[in-house]
Amino acid sequence: MAESIAFSKAADRETIYAELVPQIEELISGESDLIANLANVAAVLKEAFGFFWVGFYLKKGDQLVLGPFQGPLACTRIDFDSGVCGHAYSTRSTTIVPNVDEFPGHIACSSASKSEIVIPMFDSAGEVFGVLDIDSDRLNDFSEVDQVGLELILSFISNVSSRGS
Ligand code: SME
Repeated sequence: MAESIAFSKAADRETIYAELVPQIEELISGESDLIANLANVAAVLKEAFGFFWVGFYLKKGDQLVLGPFQGPLACTRIDFDSGVCGHAYSTRSTTIVPNVDEFPGHIACSSASKSEIVIPMFDSAGEVFGVLDIDSDRLNDFSEVDQVGLELILSFISNVSSRGS
C-alpha cells in the first residue's frame, strides 16, 4: 500500500481530483473493509483540499450515524428527514448547499461551516447505505467539479467495500 498520496498543491481542484482518483482507486482496491476505506478517503480529501470537515454518516436502523471523519467534533445521529445529509439520503442525490444559512433544516454542527456538499453512497442492490458530507468554511465552495470527482471516488468504495470483512 502507498504510504502517501501525491498531488499538486497549487493546482486547481479539477486537476487535483484527476490526480487523486487513480490513487484512491488503487488504495481502495487493495482493501475490502468499509470502515478502513472510509477512514483513508476522509484523510486524503482533508489533506488534499483542506476542507473544514470531511466525514461519513452510515445508515444504522432508521438514522444516519457518524462514521470515520476528519475535522472537529460533529453531531452523531441524523434523522432521514433532517439536514442536508438527510436530504441527500432521502432524495438519493448529491446535494450542494452554497450557503447553509439558507437551507431549511440545516444541522449546524459548527458555526464555522458556511457551505456544504453531501453525496449518497449506494450498495450493490442500489440502496443508499450512507453519505459523504463535506463542509467548507467558505461560502459557495462546491461545484459540479466536486460532485463529479467525489461521485467517482465513492463509486470505488461501493464496488469493493463490505462491512466487517
Ligand atoms: N450539516 C449537516 C450535519 C452534519 S455536520 O455538517 C458534520 C447536515 O445539515 O446534515
